[in-house]
Amino acid sequence: MAVTINTLKEMKQSGEKFTCLTSYDASFAQLVSCAGVEVILIGDSLGMVLQGNDSTLPVSIEDMAYHTKCVSNGNQGALLMADMPFMSYSTPEQAMDTAACLMQSGAHIVKLEGGSWLAETTRLLSERGIPTCIHLGLTPQTVNKMGGYKVQGRQDEQANNMVDDAINLANAGADIILLECVPASLAEKISSSVDIPVIGIGAGNKTDGQVLVLHDMLGVTSGHRPKFVKNFLEGSNSVTSAIESYIKDVKSGEFPSEEHTFK
Ligand code: KIV
Repeated sequence: MAVTINTLKEMKQSGEKFTCLTSYDASFAQLVSCAGVEVILIGDSLGMVLQGNDSTLPVSIEDMAYHTKCVSNGNQGALLMADMPFMSYSTPEQAMDTAACLMQSGAHIVKLEGGSWLAETTRLLSERGIPTCIHLGLTPQTVNKMGGYKVQGRQDEQANNMVDDAINLANAGADIILLECVPASLAEKISSSVDIPVIGIGAGNKTDGQVLVLHDMLGVTSGHRPKFVKNFLEGSNSVTSAIESYIKDVKSGEFPSEEHTFK
C-alpha cells in the first residue's frame, strides 16, 4: 500500500514513529522504499552530496526535477517529498510554478525552508492541492544569513518564535513540519503543539518521524560527521540491513540517542 499524507497523520495519532531517508536516484529509491522507509526526501542536499558544492545554494529547479523523476521511477510506494531549491519560492507565484514542476516530475509533497512568511504561499499551494512540508530550525538555504550551520532555538525568543511559526504554518495548511538541529525539548514542544506530523533531524527522539541523509547514515560522506548522524552500515553486512536497522531503531525510539541529540 502506498504511503500518503494520511498514513503519516494516522501514525502520529497512534504514536508509531515513521522514517525518512534521502534518495536521488532510481536504484537507491527502490532499495529504500522496499526496505520499508515511509518517506523519501529528494533533498537539495544533493548539491553537496552528489555535486560536491559546499552548500545547497547552487541547486536549480532543473536539478530537482531531474532527480525527482529518477527517484519516482524506482520508488515502490514511499511518499516522495521534493525540496524547492534556493530562491525558487521567493514569491507565491514563483512557488506555484516551482511546485507544479516538481509535482509533475513525480513528487507527492514539496518542502520549503522558512517561517511564518511562508503562510500565504502554504495556503495558496494547499488550496490548489499541493501538500507542503515546512523546514524550520537550521535552514541550509539561509546559511549565509545564519553565519554557519549552527543549532537553532537555544535562546527563549528564537524558540518561542519557532513554536509560533509551526502553529501558524499548520493553520495555513502545511502537512508536515521538519525540524533540523534544534534542542530536543523544543522539538518535543513543537511536536505536541501541532496536529500535523513533525520530522526531526538533530532534534531528539520525541518527534513523530526521523530523517537522515542516506549517504551520511551509510558513512559515505567524507569530512566532518555531524553529531546527529549515526553510521548504520557499521555492524551491518549490506545497505539493506543498514536501512532496516535504522527503521528498527527509529521505531523503538533508540535512535537518536543522547549522543546524537542537542540539549
Ligand atoms: O536536503 C536535505 O537533505 C534536507 C535534510 C537535511 C532534511 O533538507
